[in-house]
Amino acid sequence: MKNKFSTFVCQNCGSETSQYFGRCLNCKEWNTIVEENKTQIFKTPKKNKPQTKKAKLFDEITSEKISRFSSGFQEFDRVLGGGIVPGSVVLLGGEPGIGKSTIILQAAGKISLKKKVLYITSEESLEQVKIRWERLNQNCNYLKIYAETNLSFILDEIKNVNPSFAIIDSIQAIHNAEMESSPGSVSQVRICSAELQTFAKENNISLLIIGHVTKDGALAGPKTLEHLVDVVINFEGDKVSSYRLLRSTKNRFGSTFEIGIFEMLEKGLSEIKNPSSIFTNKENISGVTTIISSEGTRPLAVDIQALVNKTFYSNPRRTTTGISINRVHQILAVIEKHLGIKLSEYDCYIATGGGFEINDPSSDLGVAISILSSFKNIPPLENCSFIGELGLSGQLRQINNLRPKIEEAVRLGIKNILVPKTKDNLKTNFANIIKIKEISNIKEAVDYALIQ
Ligand code: TYD
Ligand code: MG
Repeated sequence: MKNKFSTFVCQNCGSETSQYFGRCLNCKEWNTIVEENKTQIFKTPKKNKPQTKKAKLFDEITSEKISRFSSGFQEFDRVLGGGIVPGSVVLLGGEPGIGKSTIILQAAGKISLKKKVLYITSEESLEQVKIRWERLNQNCNYLKIYAETNLSFILDEIKNVNPSFAIIDSIQAIHNAEMESSPGSVSQVRICSAELQTFAKENNISLLIIGHVTKDGALAGPKTLEHLVDVVINFEGDKVSSYRLLRSTKNRFGSTFEIGIFEMLEKGLSEIKNPSSIFTNKENISGVTTIISSEGTRPLAVDIQALVNKTFYSNPRRTTTGISINRVHQILAVIEKHLGIKLSEYDCYIATGGGFEINDPSSDLGVAISILSSFKNIPPLENCSFIGELGLSGQLRQINNLRPKIEEAVRLGIKNILVPKTKDNLKTNFANIIKIKEISNIKEAVDYALIQ
C-alpha cells in the first residue's frame, strides 16, 4: 500500500520537519531544507514466527576469528583494520575529483585476481570506466562492470553475479524508483543504503559504498549513513598537492584514526610506504621543529613551522594550517604567562608540513618551541625532535605511547629528542642511538633547545 506525503528534509544532516524553515533546527545550517515528496511504503506486517533463537552464555558462543581479504593496497588494509571483512559494509567518502573512483577501481582489479568483484557505476558509462581502467594499466581477472542507477536492477544484478566484493559508485547517483524524491536527496540516500546494507549482510557480500561529501566536509545525510555501515573512511587531500590520505573515523573491526597515504600519479594512486619523509624537511632553521604524531597505530614525523611578527593591528592575527587554532591560542597563553613573553603584540602563523592535519596533543611542545624559535630568531637544537603535551601551568604532561615515537625518530636518523619525564627506563634502551632529554616544563625545554 502506498501513501504520498510531503516532508521537509535537511540535506545536510537528514533531520525531517513537517514545515519549511530557512535554517535547520537540528544542525543550524541555512538553506538546506528541501521539500521531498516521499512515498511511504507500508509493509503488511509479517505473521509472528515462532521464536527460534535463545539467549546464550558467553561460554556457549563460539567466536570465529574474523577472516579478512586484502584490498591489494597495504595502506588501504591498514585503515580497514587489516583487510576487508566478508559481509561488511564500508562507506568511502571524499570530495568530488579527489580520486575515490580511481582508488577503488585499482583495488577492484587487485581483489579480482582472487575473488569475484562487481563494480557498479552509476555516474559514469561503461566506456568511461574502460578508459580509466586502460590508464591504470593493471591486471584483473573476475571483474565485472555494471552501469545502472536503479536500485532494484542493481540488487538483481548483484544476485546474478554473486560477487564476494561489490562497489557502489556512488550512493548519491542511485535511486529507489518507488520513491519520488530525486537521486542524491537524503531520503533516497537513506533508503538505498539501508536496502543495500540488508542485502549485503543476508548474502555475505562485502560492500563498499562511495559517497560524496558536501561543501563543509560532511557526508550527505551523514547521521543516517554512518550508523548503518561498519566502517567509515574519508579520502582527503587538496587538489593542488598530489598526496591523498585515507582516514577511518569509524571501524567496527579495527581501530579508528588509522591513516593510509597515497600519491596520485599519471597511472593512478601509488602507496607511500615511508610517509614521514614527505612531511619533514630536516632543515635547521628558526621557526621549524619536528614532532612525532601518533596516527592510529603509526607514528609519523611532521614539521611544525611558525612565523612570529610584530603586529600592525589592534588585535594580533593568528592563523593555522593543519592544527586547531584553539590549541595554538592555548599554547600562546601558556608561553605568555609562564615565560613572560608578550606574544599579544605579535602575529603568529602556524603551519604543519604539507598541511598535514595533526590532532595529537603531544605536538604542543613542538608548536611552542617553533613559536619561540621564530620569536627569538634562533634555530632550535640541531637534529632534534620534540614530544610533549603542554599543561596549562607550563608543565609537560605524561604521554602513554612514547616508545613508538622514539623508535620512529631513531628510524629517521634524529639524534636528540625532548620528552616529558617518564617512569620507563628509556635512556638505557636507546643509549648511544639517540639522546633522550627528559624535561618537566616549558622553561626547561627552552633553556635546553633554544640556545644561541
Ligand atoms: P576520480 O577518481 O574520478 O575522483 P572521484 O571519484 O573522487 O570524483 O579522480 C579524478 C581525478 O584524478 C582527476 O582530476 C584526474 C586524476 N587522475 C590522475 O591524476 N591519474 C589517474 O591515473 C586517474 C585515473 C585520475
Ligand atoms: Mg567518481
